Amino acid sequence: MIDLFPIVGPLLFRFDPETAHGLTIKALKSGLVPAQRGGDEPSLRSRVWGLDFANPVGLAAGFDKNAEVVDAMLRLGFGFVEAGSVTPRPQPGNPRPRLFRAIEQGAVLNRMGFNNEGLEAFAARLERRRDDPARAAGLVGANLGKNKDTADAADDYVIGVRRLAPLADYLVVNVSSPNTPGLRALQGREPLRDLLGRALDARAACKLTRDPPLLLKIAPDLTDEDKSDIAAVALESGVDGLIVSNTTIARPADIPEPLRSEAGGLSGRPLFAPSTLVLKEMYGLTGGKLPLIGAGGVASGADAYAKIRAGASLVQFYSAMVYGGPALVLRIRAELAALLRRDGFARVADAVGADHR
Ligand SMILES: Cc1cc2nc3c(=O)[nH]c(=O)nc-3n(C[C@H](O)[C@H](O)[C@H](O)COP(=O)(O)O)c2cc1C
Repeated sequence: MIDLFPIVGPLLFRFDPETAHGLTIKALKSGLVPAQRGGDEPSLRSRVWGLDFANPVGLAAGFDKNAEVVDAMLRLGFGFVEAGSVTPRPQPGNPRPRLFRAIEQGAVLNRMGFNNEGLEAFAARLERRRDDPARAAGLVGANLGKNKDTADAADDYVIGVRRLAPLADYLVVNVSSPNTPGLRALQGREPLRDLLGRALDARAACKLTRDPPLLLKIAPDLTDEDKSDIAAVALESGVDGLIVSNTTIARPADIPEPLRSEAGGLSGRPLFAPSTLVLKEMYGLTGGKLPLIGAGGVASGADAYAKIRAGASLVQFYSAMVYGGPALVLRIRAELAALLRRDGFARVADAVGADHR
């Protein structure tokens, strides 16, 4: 298929990043972005949590906050798409500007603050999709957040689980966005135990024939104590997996002023090394017992492969697409398949955690 991004990309860069994103969503919704199938890569087929992924490369949360373009994104070749974060009630998020590019660094900085249309609009779209025989193949996750003004945070996640457990292939409890005051404190041992317990109870109360896996998404900016607490609580709570990681509040040396002084979470290339390190640590701390999704700075097959060797069963990306366009998905898949072949791995699962052996 023809890659239009070399033409469209520079045009999009003439708009401020949030306007460019809005135009991209519009184009995807209107079917202007052609589907791309890619090659047949049997080595990329992955079974995780009893779910069949055609390939392990997913779209990270935050691109499709309102579940408007999941099918369009699956048709670009992603094995899975994570929509959200969605909060129970609609909310506007932080004032603009709240999304910034650092082009030379291949980075993005955001402080969106969970702007979204709320749970009902999100769920209605997933219901329409469920009933649409023409929906795209592939898996769809729902990433749950909390409203800014909710005092008892766990309530919001419970509301999200109840509504979306019957509609999503997996659920994510996101307690790691840096742009909602107090959110990341939920990663502490006691609040986390309470939150995950209540979210898992809410899922059980749905009495579904098959429970969607419930994952916890964590920050890359954690102390050693935080990390071992999270691993312990994750294992004892019965949560099904972890996503490592969200954006970072750190500012690597190469991020220039005035951007480095902007509040928010940094993603893209500068996040690759720190998030992969945390991924590796979490794999070690959980003894490889919990499937992990690696996110943070993936922009090539080699990056995806490094996350898998560090312990990820699946990977996700978002920021690299801002710079590389949607053709990146197929490139990452092809490069990953070639790297697995080079190293004698018949399938992704055989390479998971290879760096620990
Ligand atoms: C603009 C933007 C918005 C995001 N919004 C969310 C969100 O709503 N929920 C969430 O869990 N992660 C969100 N993320 C984080 C991404 O899902 C991902 O964890 C992070 O960006 C690292 O991956 P990347 O380097 O490939 O972008 C957002 C990231 C960006 C760049």
